Formats: sequence, C-alpha cells, structure tokens
Amino acid sequence: MGQNTPAQKIGDVNSLTVTDNRTGKQYTVPISRNSIPATAFKAIKAPKGPKDRDEDETEKGLRISDKGFLNTAVIESRITYIDGDAGVLRYRGYPIEQLAEQSNFLESAYLLIYGSLPSKTQYSTFENEVLLHGVMHADAAGFFRAFRYDAHPMAMLTSAYAYLGSYYREANPSLEGQALYTKGAKGDEAALRNMDKQIYRIIGKATTLAAMAYRVRQGREFVTPPTGLSYAASFLYQLDHLSPSDANYRPHPVLERALDILFILHADHEMNASSTTVLQTGSSLVDPYSAVAAGCASLYGPLHGGANEAVIRMLISIGSPDNVPAFLAAVKKREKVLSGFGHRVYKTSDPRSFIIRKVADEVFAVTGKDELLDTAMALHDAAIKDEYFVSRKLAPNVDFWSGLIYRAMGFPLDFFPVLFVVPRVVGWLAHWRQMMLSPDGVKIWRPRQIYVGAEKRDYVPVDAREPVDGPMMSPSVVPHSGVTKRRNISEIKSKL
Ligand code: CMC
Repeated sequence: MGQNTPAQKIGDVNSLTVTDNRTGKQYTVPISRNSIPATAFKAIKAPKGPKDRDEDETEKGLRISDKGFLNTAVIESRITYIDGDAGVLRYRGYPIEQLAEQSNFLESAYLLIYGSLPSKTQYSTFENEVLLHGVMHADAAGFFRAFRYDAHPMAMLTSAYAYLGSYYREANPSLEGQALYTKGAKGDEAALRNMDKQIYRIIGKATTLAAMAYRVRQGREFVTPPTGLSYAASFLYQLDHLSPSDANYRPHPVLERALDILFILHADHEMNASSTTVLQTGSSLVDPYSAVAAGCASLYGPLHGGANEAVIRMLISIGSPDNVPAFLAAVKKREKVLSGFGHRVYKTSDPRSFIIRKVADEVFAVTGKDELLDTAMALHDAAIKDEYFVSRKLAPNVDFWSGLIYRAMGFPLDFFPVLFVVPRVVGWLAHWRQMMLSPDGVKIWRPRQIYVGAEKRDYVPVDAREPVDGPMMSPSVVPHSGVTKRRNISEIKSKL
C-alpha cells in the first residue's frame, strides 16, 4: 500500500493511478459515480511484446474484456435501481412493493417512461391515449392467419412488432430523417409528440397483438379492444370474449388485479438482456417497432423471459414432490438446470418473488390450487436449504412463481413469455426514450472483440487443400424431413 500525502487522503481524490508494468508508465483514470471510463484505458499503449500477436493491437491501447457484461455499465439511467445484495427494486425511486400495492400498471408505466407519478388529469390523458391506440388495422387479421396452425405465439408477436412498424412511415427515421426522435432532446415539440404517439401505439397494441396471437391458435375471430375497461381487464376481455352476445363479459376482478400486479412487476428491470437488445438495436436510430421486435426475440430465450415456461416444463418433468431429491442431484451434476432460480444481479431473493407468492395465493383462492404447486413448494424448500444453491447465492426469481399463476389462470404454456412481453414493452420504451432524449446525443453501440482467430494466411486452391473435418469444424450431415421413406426406396430418383 502506498502512503497518503496530506493532499491525498483516502476519499479526497476520485481517480485510479494505474501502473503499466510493461512500460513502467503511470496513468490517472478518473472515477465518477464509482465507475471508470473504459476509453481511458485506450491511452495505455505498449510496444508489441514477444508473446503478442499483431491482432492483439498492443500499440493501439488496452481493450476492456467483459464477456457477458459482468461488470460493464453501458448507460447512465434514471429509470430503475436494483440493489442485488439487499433485494431492492425501485422504479424512479419508488419501491416495487409500494407500487404493487398502491399503483396500477398504466400509472407505473407513466412513471417509468416520464419520470414522475402522474396527476389525475395526466393519468387519464395517458390512459385514454394508450387504450385508444389499441385498435389494429383490419389487415392484421390476414397477417396472423398466415402463420401455421401451431405457430409459437412468441414467433407471431416478434414478427407482429416488425410488421406493425410498416404502417407508420412517420415513425421511421430511415424514411423521415435520422434526427426524427433525437431532436426531442433539444425540446422539439413535434419530435416529442411523434415519439409519444409511438409509445401510446406500442403499449396500446401490446395486448391486441398478444390476444390476436392467442386467438388465431384457438380458431377464433379477433376482438376489437373494448372501451371502459382497465388495461389488464381489456386484455383478458380480448382473449376470452366469445361472441357478439357476450358483450357484457367482464373478467374476474381478482384475475384482473393479479394480472395488473404481474404487469407492474414485469414492467422494467434495468439492463436485462432484452432491454439491452432494444437499446443496442435502437442505437442505430432504427424505428422503435424494429427495436421492440428485437427485444421480443431476446426476451424469448429460456435464460430470460422464456424461464417462466421452462419452470413449468421442469415441474411437469419432475412430476411429484418425491422426485425432487433426484432432480436436485441431477442439477448438481450439471445434467439439469433449476429454472426459476438464480439471477445475474440478485444475490438474495428477488423482491418480486415475495409479491408474486402473495398474488398466487389470491389467484389460487378463486381458480383452485395448481396441481404442480406441491412439487414447486418441495423443490423451493429443498433448494433454498441446499449448500449448492446457498453457496452460489441462487435464490428463487420472479419466474419461479409466475408460471404457476399463469397456469392456474388457464393460459397455455407457450403463452407465458407473451405475458412477460406485454408489460416489458413499457421498460423497453422508457429506456429507448431516455436514450433518444439524451443531451449528449446517441452513440451507436458498437463493442470491440478480442480476436483469437487465424493470423493472415494465403488462399489455397481447392486441389492443394488438406481437408479440415470433424465436429464443429465442418458442416453436419442432416436428415431431410421432406424426403419420405417412399421416396428413399424409389428406384428412379431425380438428380436433386
Ligand atoms: N441452476 C443450477 N445452477 C445454476 C443456476 C441454476 N438455475 N443458475 C446459476 N447456476 C450456477 C452456475 O452453474 C454457476 O456455477 P459454478 O460457479 O459452479 O460454475 C453459478 O451458479 C453462477 O451462475 P452463472 O451462470 O455464472 O450466473 P449468471 O449470472 O451468468 O446467470 C442466470 C444468471 C439467470 C442466467 C442463471 O442463474 C440461470 O440460468 N437461471 C435459470 C434461468 C432463469 O431462471 N432465468 C430467469 C432469470 S430472472 C427473469 C429474467 O431475467 O427474465
């Protein structure tokens, strides 16, 4: 440890002194908000060492290597704060527990996007705009009917957002000028209005598109979003309304409130994979519909929003509480994954999981208990006591319980990620808007890589090549599903 001079007491100087042992040179790297700028390390250059390759670009300055973004802050944000060690989640400073208890989804959406809780008038304008923008163009029926009868609803929803963008030329910076939204950072009112209109549309149509993806699979006609219902109730209505004579159908208030709370809990979660995807995609200044479509694709993976579906598949495969010990043994041997446990940021319980458990009890009281609940409880109780999970700080996350609620509410398994997308579009839009309105402008997200591939080599003519073969080194031989047994045994075959 170096000695502190009087002018340099600990805490006085907000910087790092870095010594490059290759050159003996010292560099000062500023610290701001307990973070260091990665670009400061680019100034740390050295002559190429004996073990360096040209591709290491040693003379061009140090790169920061962070596979999987384990400790890289990609933005400054005012939206959501997570303290993963204390199990804290706040939207714009408000604890998630208070919002789940006292707010509703659209009010929380307003908060996330615009930064403060709305007045009564602000809320009712926002609510009206969002609900009014729920109606889809009649052509969309043809779009949804073009999918195969068994298409996964996430495939439909992801495509539907890209498709939706095709309706709004005025929303597209590629067509209307690349400063279409960023002009808003300088207070351009037309730009802000245009941006808000897309926000109303994307949130308003989230339930409509999701309900269309649901109904096309049921072979049902599509439903125009009703008026006079809350966002969650409108969604349930669009899913379950049966015929014109059923216009008075009203969703059960307990299910409406449960869905609303689930929507609040899923609305944002700072730099998760899908929000990062939306920002990375949006950083090229593409239209928000394309960015949201990219977010959907990212969310669908089983490590992220697909986990709620994976949890139920896991519980079905376990079958009964008696099989839990064998399942956990397989997880510890790394043959299986305990879906719904673990989180990149939370190193204690996910605060949303406590709220969800309460909601689950309220839902089960009206729907009846899910038959997988006993297995889920046995798995939960065994895992939280097990040394493997305790030592790795793996606790239940939001997805461990949400799937059980969705199942009890009668949603099909493959619809679960859709139920995550509907509220998460709010978080994506809040981040996208914050980025577009950044006073420093938008920088395209273009990371670097550490190149470890072949050095320069010369082209080899085909007859002079040594074939490179083997798993992962050459293309696989694949069965052709279109080729039937009848065709295979045919004596006369075309050359194709
Ligand atoms: N089951 C078994 N082992 C696990 C699990 C799990 N669910 N999660 C992490 N581990 C182990 C992992 O094998 C590693 O062990 P070791 O140090 O011995 O190699 C250690 O715990 C650290 O895990 P990691 O993979 O380095 O952690 P990560 O931050 O890269 O991954 C995660 C986070 C959420 C992808 C991971 O915990 C996981 O795959 N969980 C299951 C999927 C899931 O529930 N996802 C939903 C997340 S919450 C909602 C959302 O984001 O959408």
